[in-house]
Amino acid sequence: MSILVTGGAGYIGSHTCVELLRNGLELVIVDNLSNSSLESINRVRKVTGKGFPFYEIDIRDKDGLKSVFSENKIDAVVHLAGFKSVGESVQIPLHYYHNNISGTLTLCDVMKTFGVKKLVFSSSATVYGNTESVPLVEDTPLGATNPYGRTKWMLEEIFRDLFISDNEWSIALLRYFNPIGAHESSLIGEDPNGTPNNLTPYITQVAIGKLNKLRIFGNDYETPDGTGIRDYIHVVDLAQGHLKALSKVVSTTGIEAYNLGTGKGYSVLEVVSAFEKVSGKTIPYEIVERRAGDIAKCYSDPSKANHELKWRAEKGLREMLEDAWRWQENNPNGYATVNNKPLQIFTRS
Ligand code: NAD
Ligand code: UFG
Repeated sequence: MSILVTGGAGYIGSHTCVELLRNGLELVIVDNLSNSSLESINRVRKVTGKGFPFYEIDIRDKDGLKSVFSENKIDAVVHLAGFKSVGESVQIPLHYYHNNISGTLTLCDVMKTFGVKKLVFSSSATVYGNTESVPLVEDTPLGATNPYGRTKWMLEEIFRDLFISDNEWSIALLRYFNPIGAHESSLIGEDPNGTPNNLTPYITQVAIGKLNKLRIFGNDYETPDGTGIRDYIHVVDLAQGHLKALSKVVSTTGIEAYNLGTGKGYSVLEVVSAFEKVSGKTIPYEIVERRAGDIAKCYSDPSKANHELKWRAEKGLREMLEDAWRWQENNPNGYATVNNKPLQIFTRS
């Protein structure tokens, strides 16, 4: 079976590609490298020892996508390409709506043209808005607190309309909780541009001396230690969720949302303390104001994915942080340090 992965050079995409390749699937990867580097594609090849075509294409480029579908047999699509920064989405909402929504519409148009109606989509726990009825189950009413979240929510609704119009489609909406960690090889991992927004890369950059101290956004939440609680999930567990979701979508039709989380929440202070144990480093921090848009608690009830996808997150917080730290130590400047010869690349002129 041959799978098109959009956004395959990114953090979750690269780990997902490794798991799909390891399980015997053939891949075609499309990414415009707007938030990633070719080196991650090289590393996917290195980790798996497998080759695949890579197209440096924007998913809004309809003719470009059509050529990908013409030149390759595609059975299903794993769609991860999109912008993901909450803060940036507030500053430049039109970029987010154009990229995430127009890009997805273009992809669906091309899939339809080529009769490919099997799709696994990267949604997010952000579609639960600021509800605090944890643990979150899939039928919790949806909402959004920022343009990024709204793109995911809107896309989920668009996919539902698409299925209503044509029930040959089969779509899995994967609602990721907080992916962290890296591949155990430390060849692939998270490589944020500039100062990280997310907790774990911020902590690892403090530990390696690139940043002075962590700022903890509020310790007056209604949680046992006052800091925010999140459901951190190892990125490799998350990647395996895509494999299970693919098995489901290719064997059925319909549209279903699945929480991909561990079901267990940890506070910011618990993460800091666990990281200090695994790394042997002290993480200096200060408590600052709450970050706008943050909520106190967000963790999943993953039972639906456990039962219907036969998927379960296996790795605990310690392993997530060990792998994140190993990646950071071995790649202090992320992918920027190396300049290997790229794979065969297809670009449109
Ligand atoms: P990432 O930025 O590392 O990966 C996204 C990839 O998509 C990048 O390689 C980028 O270059 C590519 N891309 C963006 N726009 C594109 C376009 N128009 N055409 C082609 N390629 C394009 O982000 P990630 O963390 O790997 O996230 C992957 C997906 O998962 C995103 O859709 C994101 O919204 C979603 N998600 C991420 C998180 C998280 O915490 N990382 C949580 C929930 C959902
Ligand atoms: N935090 C800090 N200091 C930092 C960074 C984060 O205290 O420097 C805290 C936050 O306040 C929050 C927790 O650490 O309590 C986790 O914050 P992240 O920024 O790592 O993650 P979020 O839960 O805010 O959001 C992430 C993604 C979103 C996605 C959401 C759910 O960034 O895109 O998970 O999947 F929607």
